[in-house]
Amino acid sequence: MSIITDTDKYIAQSYGRFPVAIKSGKGSLLYDTDDKEYIDMGSGIAVNAFGASDKTWVEAVTAQLGQIAHTSNLYYSLPQARLAELLCEGTHFEKVFFCNSGAEANECAIKAARKYSSDKYGEGRSGIVTLRNSFHGRTVTTLSATGQDSFHTHFHPFTEGFSYAEANDFADTAEKAGDNCAAVMIELIQGEGGINVLDKEYVTALAELCGKKDILLIVDEVQTGNGRTGKRFCYEHYGIKPDIITTAKGLGGGLPIGATLLGEKTANTLTPGTHGSTFGGNPVCAAGAISIIERIDSRLLEEVTEKSEYIKERLLSSANVTEVAGIGLMLGVKTAKEPKVIVDECIKRGLLTLTAKDKVRLLPALNIPLDLLERGINILMEVLEK
Ligand SMILES: Cc1ncc(COP(=O)(O)O)c(C=O)c1O
Repeated sequence: MSIITDTDKYIAQSYGRFPVAIKSGKGSLLYDTDDKEYIDMGSGIAVNAFGASDKTWVEAVTAQLGQIAHTSNLYYSLPQARLAELLCEGTHFEKVFFCNSGAEANECAIKAARKYSSDKYGEGRSGIVTLRNSFHGRTVTTLSATGQDSFHTHFHPFTEGFSYAEANDFADTAEKAGDNCAAVMIELIQGEGGINVLDKEYVTALAELCGKKDILLIVDEVQTGNGRTGKRFCYEHYGIKPDIITTAKGLGGGLPIGATLLGEKTANTLTPGTHGSTFGGNPVCAAGAISIIERIDSRLLEEVTEKSEYIKERLLSSANVTEVAGIGLMLGVKTAKEPKVIVDECIKRGLLTLTAKDKVRLLPALNIPLDLLERGINILMEVLEK
């Protein structure tokens, strides 16, 4: 059996895959089926927060597997309750809805925002403003929310009620957020859009506008959440208190789980029968997530910031690098070369990186050891200087 041939033959061709078949991993080192070693600076697109087969995470997940793998959401379960408590503790959020992915977390945020608005103001005040160049998921509604035209071809008709504002253009956003607006949804760092960090001034003005007009501010922290930017959540860098945030990816540390965190306004908006998911908050995924969230402490967050500074300093010393955008360990490197060419060359030399539009994207594990980080950056520098 050839993994690559059979994958291409039997699996829908919706991904542009790199010619690497990963067999195993330990921390920030991955191995392919020929036992070639790779330093992983992609973390399964910001998912493996503590790297591959992390001991604490594996123990938490396997212990829960031995207890019970699944119960329906018609019953109570300890891992869900503990995880929700951890997510609300130390944040201003009051309740959590669990699901299985980032797109689903955003679907829930959209439903909660629309229901909050219709409960309070009646039908019709249902508009949602998102940003051009944003990415919020692949379901039909989250594609509607995604403000990139390229994602909209082929799939019409879409869910109604979305309009797109220019990022960092407050006047444009304020104009789009008119009387029928229920919510504004933003990524503070547009990840898939090319690692574009929103301006602090714009975000604080937007939060103030939303507060004044009772428009809910939803921050999509699917990629930026759970320590990725050197804070538990990226909104903390901006000194704002969003009404709702969504998260997934690193939350589960490698198993599928998403969460919508609801602040004071929407804490009691979702009532029995208004939303649900068979697998959402599955005990095994929740147990894994607990083992991740419990370890995102101030020391780890400081290390994330220090590693970020190290990467930026090293890369900016190269004459071939024009910009290193991003915060913490969510970085985008801009060079004169085509990002895909750099990523391909890095793979040949045993380093896994990603692209994000015109940049090479780095999303290493939060606990990547310094020696591996140094080796990985050395490879990237060699490739950039070739
Ligand atoms: C900001 C953001 N929102 C939503 C999503 C969708 O998440 P998922 O692929 O888990 O549905 C992603 C995925 O890349 C993302 O980066």
